[in-house]
Amino acid sequence: MDEVTLMLRPEMPGDAEAVASVHRAAFPVPEGADEPMEVGLVAALRDGGHLLEGVTLVAEVDDRVVGHVACSRGWVGSGSAGGVPAVGIGPIGVLPAVQGRGVGAALMTTVTRLATDAGETLLALLGDPAWYARFGYVTSTDVGVEAPDPAWGVHFQVRPLVPDHPTGRFHYAPPF
Ligand SMILES: CC(C)(COP(=O)(O)OP(=O)(O)OC[C@H]1O[C@@H](n2cnc3c(N)ncnc32)[C@H](O)[C@@H]1OP(=O)(O)O)[C@@H](O)C(=O)NCCC(=O)NCCS
Repeated sequence: MDEVTLMLRPEMPGDAEAVASVHRAAFPVPEGADEPMEVGLVAALRDGGHLLEGVTLVAEVDDRVVGHVACSRGWVGSGSAGGVPAVGIGPIGVLPAVQGRGVGAALMTTVTRLATDAGETLLALLGDPAWYARFGYVTSTDVGVEAPDPAWGVHFQVRPLVPDHPTGRFHYAPPF
């Protein structure tokens, strides 16, 4: 990847279709479905006002959207009624043609920096520990955070941003 051409910026209103194209290409289509479930999930998060502005990012190469990471409001503790705000990360997708060139890593590290600057205390995601450990993610229960579904085990990971981050059960935004 020519580093000069890669640009990360917050998602803007006009990006919705390009973002959908990225996730449509990046994720598999479940049997019997028309498109990856991540396409509808991102749209539902956006339409429901759950995406965090300024932290939900697109990656562009030569003015073309090639990657996207969704950040949505979640909570740790007793749910949206009384939990402590935290951030749900994902889906994250990169166009297959440019995968393996650092776009995903750039999205992950930039999200961490922006969320920290915004005063967030904890990031959480469901994914492969083999990839996310390099960005400081740990098994959630190692730092006192329970997955929405305990069966997710080591695949539910969190990235504490402050020492006194909230603990308890993590709740995603309703579209999840
Ligand atoms: C996961 C994804 C976002 C990474 O983006 P990317 O631009 O390819 O990532 P980078 O180029 O920064 O990093 C590539 C590295 O991550 C590794 N990697 C990518 N996906 C991985 C996974 N699921 N498990 C383990 N390692 C993974 C690659 O092997 C590579 O390793 P290396 O640096 O040791 O060579 C991208 O591959 C993608 O869109 N995948 C399909 C959608 C998906 O699975 N999203 C994540 C689940 S929400």
